[in-house]
Amino acid sequence: EQIEKGGYEHFMLKEIYEQPDAVTDTYRGRMLVEQSLIRMAGVDDNLERFLNADRIIIVACGTSWHAGLVAEYIFEDIARIPVEVEYASEFRYRNPIIGSKDVVIAISQSGETADTMAAIKLAKEKGAFVFGVCNVVGSSISRETHAGAYTHAGPEIGVASTKAFTTQITVLSLIALKLAKAKGAISNSDFQYHLEELDLIPEKIKQALASNEHIKKVAHKYMNAANFLYLGRGFNFPVALEGALKLKEISYIHAEGYPAAEMKHGPIALIDEKMPVVVIATKKGHYEKVVSNIQEIKSRKGKIIAVVTEGDQDVRSMADYVIEVPDTVEALTPLLTTIPLQLLSYHIAVMLGKNVDQPRNLAKSVTVE
Ligand code: G6P
Repeated sequence: EQIEKGGYEHFMLKEIYEQPDAVTDTYRGRMLVEQSLIRMAGVDDNLERFLNADRIIIVACGTSWHAGLVAEYIFEDIARIPVEVEYASEFRYRNPIIGSKDVVIAISQSGETADTMAAIKLAKEKGAFVFGVCNVVGSSISRETHAGAYTHAGPEIGVASTKAFTTQITVLSLIALKLAKAKGAISNSDFQYHLEELDLIPEKIKQALASNEHIKKVAHKYMNAANFLYLGRGFNFPVALEGALKLKEISYIHAEGYPAAEMKHGPIALIDEKMPVVVIATKKGHYEKVVSNIQEIKSRKGKIIAVVTEGDQDVRSMADYVIEVPDTVEALTPLLTTIPLQLLSYHIAVMLGKNVDQPRNLAKSVTVE
């Protein structure tokens, strides 16, 4: 096992550090930057189904569901296709309205999750076209779907999903960009710009990983907190959910993720000097609004850990800690902002002496209801 861990203390840390290569493996051969082209057999062969779709319904569980939420923002913003994201377990039991013009995308790292499997069987029965985004090659879900695209992340052993999440977002971004181009929803130059930015992501993930020692200090400072709040907006709202999930899964600290603007409808009541609040505040879209959320937390004495764009000075002057990530095009920021949140929960769990790779009560893949 020590050999399999490749010198890392845990599989989770190894898998966090594998992300630059995993993302490269995901887009290799599919994204041809010089030709300004995305080639994905599963999408190319079924392009009409995608282009004629009234909407896309994404079904998934856990971290994969969070990747689906990120995809919703990306698909709607870039490809202008309406998207609904559903917990597979809810979808399968609520008599959903699905028809033959719907495209259902099932996201599953293992390709074995029982609820996701049941959701796609139901969607197929109702005549929908079902597309799988799985990591495990030949898995049940990858076989049950009409077509699909593998994430090519390599084996993920740690129960807390890391590289599966970033590679799922990579695949879904490629699909969104490809459909946007085919529909004429994106200009050629904007399409090309997104490809070039995606091509730079692995290098930028490496830069984000370089904050590891700094993040360890942040972890040490807040490891004894009883609760954490995670806030983000837009493309980074699902990253806040995922950050909170990572922390609770492996450290057993109660954590909640919220869209930053919803803070005033409840979570703000919890904020006091003991509450660390992780805020994703990259210099994009809603930056000013997130800054005002930070001020609201500050005035209630909450502790602020802000994930910011490299070079940001404004948030630095307000936050207790800032963690920088490189700049990129807004739709791709989740691929970077999620990295420090993975490391933060990893270090807190290690410092608390928890079993990081095999947290209590959790399974890598949930094959029963
Ligand atoms: C379990 C795992 C999670 C995973 C979820 C969905 O809860 O512990 O890490 O996100 O199942 O799994 P899937 O294999 O379908 O992505």
